[in-house]
Amino acid sequence: MKPVIIRSLSELRKLTAQWVRRDESIGLVPTMGALHAGHLSLAKAARDACDRVIVTIFVNPKQFNNPEDLENYPRTEHDDAEKLAPLEVDAIYVPDGEQMYPKEFATNVSVAGLTDVLCGAHRPGHFDGVATIVAKLFLQSGANQAFFGEKDFQQLQVVRRMARDLDIPISVVGCPTIREDDGLAMSSRNLNLSDDARKTAATLQQVMQDVAAGLRTGKAMGKLRPTALARLKEAGFGDIDYLDLRAMDDLGELDTPERPARLFAAAYLDDVRLIDNIAI
Ligand code: PAF
Repeated sequence: MKPVIIRSLSELRKLTAQWVRRDESIGLVPTMGALHAGHLSLAKAARDACDRVIVTIFVNPKQFNNPEDLENYPRTEHDDAEKLAPLEVDAIYVPDGEQMYPKEFATNVSVAGLTDVLCGAHRPGHFDGVATIVAKLFLQSGANQAFFGEKDFQQLQVVRRMARDLDIPISVVGCPTIREDDGLAMSSRNLNLSDDARKTAATLQQVMQDVAAGLRTGKAMGKLRPTALARLKEAGFGDIDYLDLRAMDDLGELDTPERPARLFAAAYLDDVRLIDNIAI
């Protein structure tokens, strides 16, 4: 059955109230659209875990620190709905800007600490925008579980902390990154890569795998980083925002994986900012 498309909060609440009355659990998959196999895997995980599934599509202006990036962000609502149809999603919630940020909207949800590093340090205000919109989506939907990709691992940790700190009764589930055949992490932004850049993009994952192999044999990040950065530059990457080893829980920087850690990278290719991370 085709999912129902909902554009207003009142319609959403009417629908979820019926489900709650019937004691049905609700899974939420927040997205900004331009859906790819990564998003679809989240919808499937929600389908497996919950009685009802809502996928949200909202290109959230508050989390873009660059107006051009916001303008270029792919918007493909019709295709998105087609992709979700076979997945037995119950509803697609597509609110407009006025619905999410009505006139005189004045509240900001800000998670300290976790947002000072990695993408938070390079994209001022980004995680405030994410935390604010995700808090709204959690409260609007009343979902029991929400599904996020590990590709945006920092976002996952920020959202977890936000929900815990604000006592929002929802469990935040992290799902594995889905990759193209050459290892590139799936992302809506990959659509903005030229054909040549798309071929080069997989180098990011190859370099990260090599750094990960070095770390696993006991080499330190400080020793491995210079060669890795040089390889990325040689392949054609522009600015490299970070290539860091960080603890999984508090994202503190590490030189060796002495506690559960992930390797994180963000680099520009053709003006497209690619991010990725892998467990060590
Ligand atoms: O990961 C995303 O697509 C967005 O940051 C999210 C979680 C939908 C919030 O706008």
